[in-house]
Amino acid sequence: MIVLGIESSCDETACAIVNDERIILSNIVLSQLDEHRPYGGIVPEIAARAHLNYLDHLIIEALARSEIDLDQIDVIAATGGPGLIGGVLVGIVTAKAIAMVTEKPFVAVNHLEGHALSARLTNDLNFPYLLLLISGGHSQLLIVEGVGCYRCIGTTIDDAAGEVFDKTARMLNLSNIGGLAIQQIAEFGNSSRFFLPRPMKGRSGCDFSFSGLKNAVRLLIADHEPLSIKDCNDIAASFQFAMTETIVDRTKMAMIIFSKMYDEPRTLVIAGGVAANVQLRRTLANIAEQVGFRLIAPPFNLCTDNAAMIAWAGLEQFCLNKRNDMDFIPRSRWSLD
Ligand code: KG4
Ligand code: ZN
Repeated sequence: MIVLGIESSCDETACAIVNDERIILSNIVLSQLDEHRPYGGIVPEIAARAHLNYLDHLIIEALARSEIDLDQIDVIAATGGPGLIGGVLVGIVTAKAIAMVTEKPFVAVNHLEGHALSARLTNDLNFPYLLLLISGGHSQLLIVEGVGCYRCIGTTIDDAAGEVFDKTARMLNLSNIGGLAIQQIAEFGNSSRFFLPRPMKGRSGCDFSFSGLKNAVRLLIADHEPLSIKDCNDIAASFQFAMTETIVDRTKMAMIIFSKMYDEPRTLVIAGGVAANVQLRRTLANIAEQVGFRLIAPPFNLCTDNAAMIAWAGLEQFCLNKRNDMDFIPRSRWSLD
């Protein structure tokens, strides 16, 4: 079975082709970073227009790279939400049009479910597993019991981790993708020069909070302006360290909860753009080992937004006889549980 996947929920236009042997035949992601840079953030209208401009070409390119024709595709999957509604509309309308013309089934995929199931594309992984989902819009700890079966055991009570990475990067005048830019300069910085708070650390349960850390880093930057390169590097390193310790503390709590519910083998999966962070991956690998969990961290390009995960989640759903009608309405909000 071969599935075409489309992702257009934020500022990446993406198309991928995946088969049921877990082979990614093509996986193309086009970032709109340059289009949005002058505005200091993602402009929904610009994102929607860019998806409209790029998507058709990307689909043709994905088919060409896979060396297959449209009529060899068995299922068309596209992100149906949550996300910026203009972008989601572009992807969904395109997918529906292809499905109608080719008379193939159409599946609308929850973007978060794409992240949640991506580890089953890259690894031989059975349910249940613990999932740390950390992206630009979400920070959650979930127990994945099956396709469509998610139990949220922790969530952020304010900002998402990626959002705070992005804001900090902007305050430091970094122009690359927020979290990646912080990671790049943190490598040259001293992570113990500044102490930043680790919100919720040591508390019971496994909810997150990041607004206190965001505010503390804002005040720290204001206190040290004008910043030297060394100041920027040290702030980035101290911030990344605080972020890592915060996320790891909450995830450790979740692993303890999961251990009480399920026998071995126990697996922790990380997903979402922030899961591409090298320091976080390294620290989580150590902690997971200590508490008897196998850690699955998909490759960087499958942590950040991509369409291979959408194609795969569409395939998983289709195999369970789930598909959508042409009257599916894109959703700006769509929680997993
Ligand atoms: O999953 P994703 O690509 O899009 C959403 O669904 O939101 O996640 C994007 C987020 C951004 O906030 C970005 O700054 C962050 O992931 N990110 C990183 C890294 N690469 C991307 N955060 C920390 N370290 C990274 N290496
Ligand atoms: Zn995402």
